[in-house]
Amino acid sequence: MRGHLFFVRLFVPVAFFMALVWIGEPLYARYAIDQMLLALEGAPVPFVRLFGIWLGIFLLFNVVSAAMFYVKWAIQHDLLAQTRQMYYERALQLDIRHHVKTRGGEMMKKIDNAADAMVDLMRQIFLELLPSSITAAIFLIISAFISWQLTVLIIALLPLFVLLLTVYVRSTRGNMDIVNALWVKSLGRGYDAMTNIFTVKSAGAEGRELSSMEEIHRKGIAELRKVNRAWSIFEGFGTFMLIRLCLIAYGMYLLVHGELSLGSLFFYQFTFFRIVMPLEMLSSMMPRWNELMGRVRLAEEMFLQPVTIRSKSDAVRLPDVRGRVVFDHVSFTYGDADTLRDITLEVEPGEHIALVGHSGAGKSTIAMLLNRFYDVSGGRLLIDGTDIRDLDLTWWRQQVGLVMQENVMFNDSLLENIRYASPRASREEVEQAARRASAHHFIAALPQGYDTPVGERGIRLSGGERQRVAIARTILKSPAVVILDEATSALDSVTERAVQQGIRELIAGRTSFIIAHRLSTVRSVHRIAVVENGTITAYAPHETLMNQSTVYRDMVELQREGVLAE
Ligand SMILES: Nc1ncnc2c1ncn2[C@@H]1O[C@H](COP(=O)(O)OP(=O)(O)O)[C@@H](O)[C@H]1O
Ligand SMILES: [Mg+2]
Repeated sequence: MRGHLFFVRLFVPVAFFMALVWIGEPLYARYAIDQMLLALEGAPVPFVRLFGIWLGIFLLFNVVSAAMFYVKWAIQHDLLAQTRQMYYERALQLDIRHHVKTRGGEMMKKIDNAADAMVDLMRQIFLELLPSSITAAIFLIISAFISWQLTVLIIALLPLFVLLLTVYVRSTRGNMDIVNALWVKSLGRGYDAMTNIFTVKSAGAEGRELSSMEEIHRKGIAELRKVNRAWSIFEGFGTFMLIRLCLIAYGMYLLVHGELSLGSLFFYQFTFFRIVMPLEMLSSMMPRWNELMGRVRLAEEMFLQPVTIRSKSDAVRLPDVRGRVVFDHVSFTYGDADTLRDITLEVEPGEHIALVGHSGAGKSTIAMLLNRFYDVSGGRLLIDGTDIRDLDLTWWRQQVGLVMQENVMFNDSLLENIRYASPRASREEVEQAARRASAHHFIAALPQGYDTPVGERGIRLSGGERQRVAIARTILKSPAVVILDEATSALDSVTERAVQQGIRELIAGRTSFIIAHRLSTVRSVHRIAVVENGTITAYAPHETLMNQSTVYRDMVELQREGVLAE
């Protein structure tokens, strides 16, 4: 992105040169016209030379315009890429806490909107308004030498224009705010319908969705019509014409009294537009600035949120992870109520423990803390004796493998999906991991094998296949600590059995936390922790728990009767 600065540096001299060429034309026109007037009095006029120079100025003008155009666009493109990159980087850094509140698509939409708006604002201000203001200033100074009276007249009349502009912007700001809010709403509505397309279609609600969108548009257009009306009046009966008329009248007066040449009068007709151009730009930009600023503000929120989950400057990477995990009086809150209270749990390296308990008890939250998606609110979480907050974050996440109920896939090939966490893995290593995850068989049977695209969010794979791909991905990552959060809960028991083999391969020899709905799947673990209402009420092997924990015994009994525990 170093080219960016190159063009920015180039912009200043090009813009300056452009202003000189611009002023050159009217100055020359003034001279040429006065020369031609002399012809009326009988003096010889070198037409060819006069016209030749004029042509030269035109050609120069074209070349400089082209250069200006190129430089402007180059700056804009670089700016857009950089701004997007900056927003995207921030979005990726943001704590999970913020991500769960916003939908991914919305976040990208915001980023895109804000980057576009930011670039648009910078372009208007620095690439359009600023150079044209400089040009206008140069024009004013030079024109003062030609006729101070006319220059004073222009300066005196300009405030009138500014006044009218302010009135216009004030009077339409409210309407524009309404329109902006409506457009955001229409986007949100459309986005909702698209993400819930199955529900929309099965309810036969396409027509309803369409007409509610139409309703939003109808309101927006009605508001815009009002803005439009005010704008047209301003454009049509604006003060430019008035100023120009005064200029002509006063200029003619000076001309007849011999204080101004005809060439100079022409000069003012030429320069007038350049002098008022920044004001005219301002007036056409104003209504849009509200909208653009609004878009930038929407994304600003991303920068106001502090990023708290990050590596400390002296973060450590353990040379050899054994996988001893200790929750030491851990408490946690998502914001309001306490989700976890005084959790104490010691897990030995390579030990398999299960977390069981009713839905909403806090099991997944424990998994979140282990991945350090959130930090504990109280107590400590120790990995081989080191506080998780002292570990290098990226490194630690490499040491943890997480398989969830729904493992979203990237719209890419199976190969890339399996090696997403270990991008340097070879095809052979991927295949080996897939074999161990019992995924090789079905992958090899696909027409394109490992190169088969999985479709948006893995839609082309069955639930069991997706889980096996996720397990293969985790096996390949070779983590020290494995977390399975309801990894097989969405599968029927036959499919579950196919996946179980892969899970056994994955957890073998690794510290593993298995959160499962069906208790039959967790019998073989070393110890079981019963999670109730955000705290651990019992922690022991199955047999002991059957005697110790009534909650656990009840859950086992219920499932034996075939009722799914909730
Ligand atoms: N991102 C979140 N923000 C606020 N509350 C949450 C969030 N995630 C989970 N919770 C709440 O925390 C509690 C524990 O949830 P969870 O750990 O997912 O339970 P479990 O996995 O045992 O079913 C629930 O009351 C749930 O509503
Ligand atoms: Mg859960």
